[in-house]
Amino acid sequence: MALRNIVTKEDPILYKTSREVKQFNIRLQQLLDDMAETLEKSCGVGLAAVQVGVLRRAVLVLETNVGEGEDEHIIEFINPEIIEVEGEQTGAEGCLSVPGEYGLVSRPMRVKARAQNRYGAWFEYEGVGLTARCMCHEFDHLDGHLFLEKCERMLTEEEVNGGSEEE
Ligand code: CO
Repeated sequence: MALRNIVTKEDPILYKTSREVKQFNIRLQQLLDDMAETLEKSCGVGLAAVQVGVLRRAVLVLETNVGEGEDEHIIEFINPEIIEVEGEQTGAEGCLSVPGEYGLVSRPMRVKARAQNRYGAWFEYEGVGLTARCMCHEFDHLDGHLFLEKCERMLTEEEVNGGSEEE
């Protein structure tokens, strides 16, 4: 595994549409492994391939809704599509490609997606709360969208550090 560089919002690649993954080969697995290492190192909750400069429809989401004694774990979504949404949440959102900036963004409370795993098998996955937010945020990256476009307003440093409770 190797760390990859995360591009920031000045990079035009972030505004491009990622292409479908068609080959579930060792190169894809290498990419996903590198992304996982990069995500862990940067303490983020999600990462899209485009953020490491690869225009392919692959994202990682950290599942943080886990039971006691269970570890948070990464879910790999290849060629994901949202098939169901429910409810709404409004809260602070940030992005590894927009370091140090946070905004107030509304997202569904529950999201069900259909995607392929690293071997090409289809699966469905339902995320709630932060996981649902993260799924929407990462899937947006695949169509060249950043949270800044969906943001009601940016949060001040004070609001971020004071732990704003606006949900
Ligand atoms: Co992001």
